[in-house]
Amino acid sequence: MAAKSPVRMAIVGYGYWGPNLVRNFGEAEHCQVVYCCDLDPARQQRAQRRHPWLRVTGRWEELLADKELDAVAIATPVHTHYELARQALEAGKHVLVEKPLTMRVDHAEELCELAQKKGLVLQVDHVFVYSPPVIKMKEIVDSGRLGKIYFIDSVRINLGLLQSDVNVVWDLAPHDLSIVDLLLGRMPRSLSAFGAVHANQHIEDVAYLNLDYGDGLIANFHVNWLSPVKVRQMIIGGSEQSLIYNDLESSEKVKVYNRGIQVGQDPEKRRQVLISYRSGDLWAPHIPNDEPLARMAAHFIQCIREGRTPLTDGQAGLRLVRILDAAQRSIKAQGGRVVL
Ligand SMILES: NC(=O)c1ccc[n+]([C@@H]2O[C@H](COP(=O)([O-])OP(=O)(O)OC[C@H]3O[C@@H](n4cnc5c(N)ncnc54)[C@H](O)[C@@H]3O)[C@@H](O)[C@H]2O)c1
Repeated sequence: MAAKSPVRMAIVGYGYWGPNLVRNFGEAEHCQVVYCCDLDPARQQRAQRRHPWLRVTGRWEELLADKELDAVAIATPVHTHYELARQALEAGKHVLVEKPLTMRVDHAEELCELAQKKGLVLQVDHVFVYSPPVIKMKEIVDSGRLGKIYFIDSVRINLGLLQSDVNVVWDLAPHDLSIVDLLLGRMPRSLSAFGAVHANQHIEDVAYLNLDYGDGLIANFHVNWLSPVKVRQMIIGGSEQSLIYNDLESSEKVKVYNRGIQVGQDPEKRRQVLISYRSGDLWAPHIPNDEPLARMAAHFIQCIREGRTPLTDGQAGLRLVRILDAAQRSIKAQGGRVVL
């Protein structure tokens, strides 16, 4: 590909999420969406009706054989990610994969190695990492104003789109785990998870994950497809200040509370700890309203054109797959703690 020519892309999978990729890559600078590939003839028809200029096909081999095609974005069911991504990398295409990268740790490792060997960009759509409120949270955490982070409490629940190949942990937890991965920049030491099956005989639809970072920081994640109400909230409690992220707020999605406890010592009774409560101001930073998926798409194109490593590269995808895999094993062991 010449340095100045647009990146020629294909979107694979035109179900619920694929159309969002077609739209956002279609609007991205230096990018030209040339193909849409889906096995289902009804989905192909829908794509062709909406985008008459696209080459719509059910034949994946056609994309792999096209020497002019630079990159593919994979928005198919999770169990197909590994094989499609592997074949695309083997064929010399840059690859964007929807979350989660794969269903197995060894598959994610293999994709990372393959991308590196071939010198190709492998990016995972951890879309929240590109969202303005999360970028603002990263700035706040990095500034140190929260002090030492004591706990993270995350809730992502609603009446969800039940998936047939993955449980609620693999479907919803990648969003929150990717946010925490960005904010902390380190892996937990161990985790324990509980899950329950209600609607489908084999697929957990309610789950709780507890991650231990080994230095007093614990993080709890509740993911649930059966909740009558929608909640998208993360609390980050620090020694100095605390932050609440509510993604359902139309504005002021991030609020920083100068509230907490102060621990001192009673000089008269030397062994007695004095706790006092601090109730200070509330601050809601200005946050732009850009679409996260547009930023994610632009980042992928920029990484290809400039030979850069994406913020959410294969390694970021692999870190999440390791946590999801450990959570799955812990659920099977009724919450048994798994060391990572
Ligand atoms: N980033 C996000 O916020 C987000 C949101 C929703 C879904 N997703 C992810 O997007 C992916 C797709 O989810 P969805 O809800 O759109 O699923 P979906 O079932 O609605 O759509 C998947 C589409 O892929 C097609 N397909 C299946 N196998 C194929 C193959 N081998 N080649 C070509 N087409 C194939 C199906 O015919 C279907 O049209 C999943 O990985 C999911 O986790 C991400």
